[in-house]
Amino acid sequence: MKAYVITNPGGPEALELQEVPSPKAQKGQVTIQIKAFGLNRAEAVTRMGGSGKAVKFPKVIGIECVGIVMDCPGGELEKGQTVAAAMGEMGRAYDGSYAEQTVVPVTNVFPLKTSLDWKTLAAIPETYFTAWGCCYHTLKLDKFEKPKVLVRPGASALAVAITQIVNHLEGQVIGITRSAHKVEKMLKTGMHKVIVSADRVADEVLAEWPNGADGVVDTIVSKTSVADDFKLRSKKAHLCLAGSLADSYGTDKAGSFMKAMIKPRVGFYDSGTISVTKDGANLQQIVQRVEQGIYNPHIDATFDFSELPKAHEMMDKNAFAGKVVISVDVD
Ligand SMILES: NC(=O)c1ccc[n+]([C@@H]2O[C@H](COP(=O)([O-])OP(=O)(O)OC[C@H]3O[C@@H](n4cnc5c(N)ncnc54)[C@H](OP(=O)(O)O)[C@@H]3O)[C@@H](O)[C@H]2O)c1
Repeated sequence: MKAYVITNPGGPEALELQEVPSPKAQKGQVTIQIKAFGLNRAEAVTRMGGSGKAVKFPKVIGIECVGIVMDCPGGELEKGQTVAAAMGEMGRAYDGSYAEQTVVPVTNVFPLKTSLDWKTLAAIPETYFTAWGCCYHTLKLDKFEKPKVLVRPGASALAVAITQIVNHLEGQVIGITRSAHKVEKMLKTGMHKVIVSADRVADEVLAEWPNGADGVVDTIVSKTSVADDFKLRSKKAHLCLAGSLADSYGTDKAGSFMKAMIKPRVGFYDSGTISVTKDGANLQQIVQRVEQGIYNPHIDATFDFSELPKAHEMMDKNAFAGKVVISVDVD
């Protein structure tokens, strides 16, 4: 089978398309024929060597995919079943989804009933698991009537998914971007307002929402962004720290994450905790809502498998404003 193998971490050219032996599942594992997968910022970090000792090279990276079950020696899933797989150290501790096939622990393989096409389905797992977790577990948005949520940055796949969830709760999302040319696209995803800024936005947000935001999702987490988050959130709002774009290697050298975490009503969400027993029903519900048109993934770009390095190059340049999907074997 074909797979992108990284031997030496680096730029997009580190992704080398190779012919490698097909992986074989043991009991407790599933072999998946990959149809498509979503691109994630975390994969760019791993590609550059930013995941430290957690990822040993050579490695096939990629933390999520959708496809069909080829083999499941333990019998937990049937051959031909449509599945998604995500996290569980996929593409980090063991080879992941930048391939035609992958072998994943059954704990992180999610059986799905769906009529969605592969590309749309591929836009969902990791991004919507995270959006769902940020909205319901950390921000507790179901406790607010018509919640007002600030997301920074707003030009991310995660922000688009959060917008779908908040709009379904009849709430509003304000997204922040550094790129003026992304505003129109972001508004089309359903954001209430987009602010173009690389700095503080609290005054502008409070002018729009005088009582402040009912929830804030910050995946930049710099000293400036966190101070601004505290200023613009309402008295009951939670702040969800869910990424570290300001320090793309995630080492939190400035200590912004740790300093914020000791304050009241501050939490984080980590999709590394997902499993089929805990989160499988949520994913099926999300997929149904996409089928019903309640959530729209607003895929920003799709690429063929052969174009994966180009997609990484564009991700490095922050060219996208939403989810990017790679099709591997779509009829
Ligand atoms: N906690 C979890 O479980 C979890 C799961 C998934 C993702 N995440 C995190 O969520 C974040 C977004 O991920 P994604 O895959 O959705 O991202 P993405 O689609 O690649 O979007 C990233 C966008 O953020 C902006 N950006 C990038 N670096 C920035 C910086 N240093 N300061 C300000 N804005 C910056 C850029 O837009 P502009 O044009 O505005 O610059 C870029 O287009 C990442 O931090 C990722 O690690 C966390």
